Amino acid sequence: SGPATVSPTGQATGADRARTAQAGGRLTTAQGTRLYDTDHSLKAGPRGPVLLQDHHLREKIMHFDHERIPERVVHARGAAAHGVFRGYGTAASVTRAAFLAKDVETPVFVRFSTVLGSRGSADTVRDTRGFATKFYTSEGVFDLVGNNIPVFFIQDAIKFPDVIHAGKPHPDREIPQAQSAHDTFWDFVTLHTEATHHTLWNMSDRGIPRSYRMMEGFGVHTFRLVDADGSTTLAKFHWKPKLGVHSLVWEEAQLASGVDPDFHRRDLADAIEAGAYPQWELGIQTFPDTPEQTFEGIDLLDPTNLVPEELAPVQPVGLLTLNRNPSNYFAETEQVAFHVGHLVPGIDITDDPLLAGRLFSYLDTQITRLGGPNFPQLPINRPHAPVNDMLRDGMHQTAVHRGVAPYRPNSLDGGCPFTAGADAGAYVETPVRVPEATKVRAAPESFDDHFGQPRRFWLSMSPVEREHIIGAYTFELGKCYEQAVKERALQVLANIDPELCRGVAEGLGLPAPEPTVPLADVAPSPALSQVGRTWPVD
Ligand code: HEM
Repeated sequence: SGPATVSPTGQATGADRARTAQAGGRLTTAQGTRLYDTDHSLKAGPRGPVLLQDHHLREKIMHFDHERIPERVVHARGAAAHGVFRGYGTAASVTRAAFLAKDVETPVFVRFSTVLGSRGSADTVRDTRGFATKFYTSEGVFDLVGNNIPVFFIQDAIKFPDVIHAGKPHPDREIPQAQSAHDTFWDFVTLHTEATHHTLWNMSDRGIPRSYRMMEGFGVHTFRLVDADGSTTLAKFHWKPKLGVHSLVWEEAQLASGVDPDFHRRDLADAIEAGAYPQWELGIQTFPDTPEQTFEGIDLLDPTNLVPEELAPVQPVGLLTLNRNPSNYFAETEQVAFHVGHLVPGIDITDDPLLAGRLFSYLDTQITRLGGPNFPQLPINRPHAPVNDMLRDGMHQTAVHRGVAPYRPNSLDGGCPFTAGADAGAYVETPVRVPEATKVRAAPESFDDHFGQPRRFWLSMSPVEREHIIGAYTFELGKCYEQAVKERALQVLANIDPELCRGVAEGLGLPAPEPTVPLADVAPSPALSQVGRTWPVD
């Protein structure tokens, strides 16, 4: 077969796709031996028993039997695309990250996902969406592993197994798929009231995006940026879609998941194939790196908090364009491995306890999911910067390493010509002071207010958004069997706002309780509403 014709997006289409499916005019075994027939087993006569000596049969079936790998333990369902990121240079005063410098272009791979559903679940469910970006920078891979909601359910990663156990289908009936309409979910989020803020976002229109192309993205945690002189600034990352933020209404979402469960996946691929490349601006909110790590009274290490854009405007630092669909779902979308610890010089972590657990979890799960420690060698995960590590052997090793001395210093392989700490291009952890403290399993008092920010969100909503939120809580809680869970949920809502609580209580046919905490005295943040958002400007 001749060279493949590809579309402008780099994709083989129609007949071309068929032609490029398998290279060469002849089938071979995995060993390269030419085959003359792949449709009939080797038998003792046409009606006789199949022979064990049929290597082709055994190889073909053995390989098929092992085609599946475990799906991700969370974010199993996803869709992805390749693209390019161009730095504006506007972040140069706060970070020395090379990919953010003016007009530097960096290849990227972005995977969008739902969180709770299995790989085959529907796209338009009410759920959080993952927004994970791999930047193949000249200084190594940087992964921004975020969501479309700026806050998280829990403040400490030690509760992650618990919140996911509560949100995944019930262990007995395995229902529901990717929906928050069940007792364990509501049991958890009402017993752990730090989850109130994230849950409220889920129950708002943000929980059912119209399209991946029309979602915001958030790095959630506060990161530490480091400039060329070593000065530090705290920052939160934001993705702002050029198409604006849009959602489905609940009825549309339900129809779509029945009529086309691949609605978001198809939308993304079709748009890119048609040349309607989706774009997002990357922005940062910046805060002085003070020992308290707070801003306007908000604890920046608490991932259930956001910082309103009125208090810290989002400053654009670069443009992401998705312009090429993956050519193989398994090789790219399924095998990509993101990690919050994939950092480049100029970007560092903070002591957010949720982030700390993530730094452990991703590497750990990928060893199981991708079959051993060599998944950074998979094509989609390979850095575009030169790699010279001393990692050796292991399952699925594909490199043929030269030399005899994978350690340093050494006197046999010409040594390793760098001096630790003296290389200007190296990643050097910021020498942050660790407070003197007593070892303890506890959270700070500044993590205690679970209703103030949810109230700000509620007060920022337009009337129609409020109506949708009341409808969502009523529908989802209406699916719970446990009366006590519903009543506890109403108590949480009463602590956010009486109007919200009354609306849902009425829908459930239950009395509306009085708040058990004083209602927070907070101002609305217009930027939180989807209605009338002014970003993006052009
Ligand atoms: C996967 C985001 C918290 C464990 C993911 C993915 C995203 C994401 C976007 C999908 C990556 C992909 O497309 O391949 C977030 C955000 C969090 C958060 C924004 C909070 C701010 C956590 C925590 C843990 C965790 C606290 C565990 C302690 C995992 C695991 C996966 C995953 C195990 C599957 C990774 C894989 O199989 O490659 N997360 N996550 N996440 N997350 Fe998180």
